[in-house]
Amino acid sequence: MVATLPLELKLVDLSAVQTALQARATRRYEDDREHDNRIKIVAFANGKGGVGKSSTSAAFAVAAARQGARVLLVELDPQGNNAEDLGFVRSDIADDGRAQAAAILNSRPLTPTGSPRKNLFVVPGGDALEEITEELYCQRRLASQTGDTTWLGMYAASLEQVYDDYDLIILDVAPGILVLQLQALVAADVVIVPSKSDPSSRKGLRLITRRFGEALQYNDSLVMLGVVLFAAGSSATRVKKGIRDDLKRDLAGTEVPVFETDIRHVEAVAVEARRRGLVPQELLKEKDLDASLRKSAQDLARDYGALTGEVLQAINQLRESLNEAEEMEEASA
Ligand SMILES: Nc1ncnc2c1ncn2[C@@H]1O[C@H](COP(=O)(O)OP(=O)(O)OP(=O)(O)O)[C@@H](O)[C@H]1O
Ligand SMILES: [Mg+2]
Repeated sequence: MVATLPLELKLVDLSAVQTALQARATRRYEDDREHDNRIKIVAFANGKGGVGKSSTSAAFAVAAARQGARVLLVELDPQGNNAEDLGFVRSDIADDGRAQAAAILNSRPLTPTGSPRKNLFVVPGGDALEEITEELYCQRRLASQTGDTTWLGMYAASLEQVYDDYDLIILDVAPGILVLQLQALVAADVVIVPSKSDPSSRKGLRLITRRFGEALQYNDSLVMLGVVLFAAGSSATRVKKGIRDDLKRDLAGTEVPVFETDIRHVEAVAVEARRRGLVPQELLKEKDLDASLRKSAQDLARDYGALTGEVLQAINQLRESLNEAEEMEEASA
């Protein structure tokens, strides 16, 4: 039985979202080869929890910022793990997600609360994101009756308003919240899927692949850049090859690559890095580390360095192939 309640729900007015989405469509259509004003928003997502989304987002963000890119890291997760990973839990940069909620619920720019590293700006996650998810589920319910899908672009609209301010915008996306995942996939230019090799992580990978397909209807230039094998336990080449073959089977029918670089499993470094609010590249420089921990931190930092190189190269290749496609189109016109 379906109950109809005499209830008046006040939802966010989406006219500003519509305007921002139109601006995005125009920007994407415009030929902006000289400025490479596209492929900036990278979402780290997987339908499964604990597969390295936050650790990889933070390490990648710090590495790219160190190379001189102006980076915005947005945590679409009520857990607020970025604050731990980057060590700003007790600073005034941490706001429990309030700035993010205010921006999304008022269709305003996603303005950072601060800059925990040079060139790196953050919009933290936290409990206040519950307000966003509540709104999103209501919007989704309403859309199921009206057929208007504008609500899917609420994050895209707030990100569009800061797009020109950064070289890279990284989204660290919560695993279990469907509406946040969809928002991220509709807002992003590319998606990276960290995955472990166990069956339930691979189920999460298949789930995000399905959601990716759904998001393509609203964001047709979205690209899945690749899968990162996270906390790979064995260093044996044969075992790794088996895992990679499994991942590739899960991605069958798509052309999504598995990145060459695996992030190795070193729990002691991960725990110490998060405890100190440093990414592995920073932890290894700490004076009071014992020798074996320093060695492991160096190895893990090397993995993240290599992964960062691969990701940035893949983004550049994508930009180049878009430019080439446009040139061919122009030549044939
Ligand atoms: N290289 C590593 N080896 C082993 N454990 C790691 C490594 N890096 C991170 N961890 C640990 O794995 C756990 C999950 O990592 P992380 O928080 O990055 O995953 P996540 O996908 O963001 O999780 P969630 O879905 O909860 O947001 C954390 O407890 C972290 O300390
Ligand atoms: Mg996380």
